[in-house]
Amino acid sequence: MGCAISGTTPRTAEETKAEDAVAHLNEEQIQMIKESWKVIQEDIAKVGIIMFVRLFETHPECKDVFFLFRDVEDLERLRTSRELRAHGLRVMSFIEKSVARLDQLEQLEGLAVELGKSHYRYSAPPKYYSYVGAEFICAVQPILKEKWNRDLEEAWKTLFLYLTTFMNHGYQEEENCQNHTAVSPKDRPDKRNTAL
Ligand code: HEM
Repeated sequence: MGCAISGTTPRTAEETKAEDAVAHLNEEQIQMIKESWKVIQEDIAKVGIIMFVRLFETHPECKDVFFLFRDVEDLERLRTSRELRAHGLRVMSFIEKSVARLDQLEQLEGLAVELGKSHYRYSAPPKYYSYVGAEFICAVQPILKEKWNRDLEEAWKTLFLYLTTFMNHGYQEEENCQNHTAVSPKDRPDKRNTAL
């Protein structure tokens, strides 16, 4: 988004670590992620739903961020919700894009930063992001069956660490930007005059 201070935030140690982690996803791990994605992709809508229903079960506070779901008490109803299916698919499509860009880290970083900025606008704070990777792993494990192993789990965890770290960065950038451009109280027009 158009903010003059975007992109000027220095890298944190955590971001450098996340970047290094993905930079060190070796070719074998990248291939493992890509291969497993082919299987996951066949159940993409199902994984999206399972992931978010589990997220709302394990961290009910996340549900409050979603205008459409915050008042739904019976989580079983969400399993057949068209809206949750659509939302899950949007998130899973982003994962798909990320897998496709594992060889172009600069592009992947940019996508994740922009996504973090949009999450500032959705009022979805970074403290919740890491839960999604954990639920993704729980949702795909039974689909991959014997193809699942600790190395594959490590590779997916690393990818989620990378994505969420740069989402966090985008969120902070957008927050700084909004705070920077917010009108300070002393600069606001005097309301007593406007009432006349
Ligand atoms: C790895 C973590 C996450 C990823 C990859 C992700 C991805 C996405 C994507 C791709 C969208 C579609 C709209 C857009 O592109 O801007 C979206 C929308 C949204 N996300 Fe996330 N998200 C994550 C975590 C979360 C969490 C933890 C919450 C809430 C606690 C959340 C709340 C929302 C909301 C409210 C929307 C807008 C509504 C909608 O599009 O259906 N997200 N997210």
